[in-house]
Amino acid sequence: MPGIRGPSEYSQEPPRDPCFKVNAKASSPFFFEPFNAEPPRSALVSSYVTPVHLFYKRNHGPIPIVDHIENYSVAVTGLIDNPKMLFIKDIRSLPKYNVTATLQCAGNRRTAMSKVRNVRGVGWDVSAIGNAVWGGAKLADVLELLGIPKLTGFTTLGGRHVEFVSVDRCKEENGGPYKASIPLSQATNPDADVLLAYEMNGEILNRDHGFPLRVVVPGVIGARSVKWLDSINLLAEECQGFFMQKDYKMFPPSVNWDNINWSSRRPQMDFPVQSAICSLEDVQMVRPGKVSIKGYAVSGGGRGIERVDISMDGGKSWVEASRTQKPGRDYISEHNSSDKWAWVLFEATFDVSQSTEVIAKAVDSAANVQPENVESVWNLRGVLNTSWHRVLLRLGHSNL
Ligand code: MTE
Repeated sequence: MPGIRGPSEYSQEPPRDPCFKVNAKASSPFFFEPFNAEPPRSALVSSYVTPVHLFYKRNHGPIPIVDHIENYSVAVTGLIDNPKMLFIKDIRSLPKYNVTATLQCAGNRRTAMSKVRNVRGVGWDVSAIGNAVWGGAKLADVLELLGIPKLTGFTTLGGRHVEFVSVDRCKEENGGPYKASIPLSQATNPDADVLLAYEMNGEILNRDHGFPLRVVVPGVIGARSVKWLDSINLLAEECQGFFMQKDYKMFPPSVNWDNINWSSRRPQMDFPVQSAICSLEDVQMVRPGKVSIKGYAVSGGGRGIERVDISMDGGKSWVEASRTQKPGRDYISEHNSSDKWAWVLFEATFDVSQSTEVIAKAVDSAANVQPENVESVWNLRGVLNTSWHRVLLRLGHSNL
């Protein structure tokens, strides 16, 4: 691999912020499992753009190491007339775009799903999500440079999918690299804003988030935004890797580990409408008086957030929360002043005089609504828990 390699152990992991809730077994001085971690939920609503050091991290193996950035190149191969090696300078010479997009792990809010019935996967609370300004070249421009025109569904050689391959070594791939694919029609559509990103929030991408180059597929579950890009392959069929075919698929509640048929379901791409309350813990002690309810809402596929409803009486009545993206400006769903790939932050204030359950539910611009109960969306891998988010307010009068 020119310039970049995936180590087989964890001795050269980058430093991370101590505030993270780590979802891996720590074994001093190194982690012997991939580093998966989320910030405290309150950190998420302190700013529209999540600071890099507070952005959740989801890794399936040790973090790759770049030895010689000048040697780093991405091989573009497969069903393409002119296979080519692209150097970072080739990618940087294309027009640079800054796309504000929310990345969300499909397993966000898995812990709440596992309370219904056991599920397999990293135990995320509500913070396996973050919103960043990704800077880089559009994949549509990169492919055009290689002779594949914009808005193309198939190449002359029959390529219909674009596979992204990394260098990290993953247990699930038997020590092979992480990979995923998206349809060529999405990759060549400039409006889909798929990026080969080299910056995050105006800074050079750091190692945890994919240095020197990662894919960002806005509106789609985080699993398809491959980090530490090594090659791009044009394929006739979608990527056959573990994370496309044997993971990150949504099954009905009746499927268990004995009767699962992985090929019966499509790989998950767009994420559904989601929201979570971040200013309160699941059980929060409060004094009588005003309580501010803040959180995030987001939908996949570029759909806007039409409404966020808050209930203080178990869902009998609802009040609409205010929504913002850029500070001080009201958000208008689907308006050209809003960031279509990014979350909105919501807020509502209530007078609280008794213990109660607080519920948030969001509605997207296609009128998709979060499901009421986690039971109805339970699945054995614990993905896509988008059920109404509930927290319990307990009234206390002293020592809070
Ligand atoms: N890319 C590589 N090469 N290896 C990985 O383990 N994890 C994926 C995706 N890209 C992963 C990857 C998953 S499951 C998610 S949710 C996002 O990266 C997380 O991105 P982040 O760590 O930058 O937040």
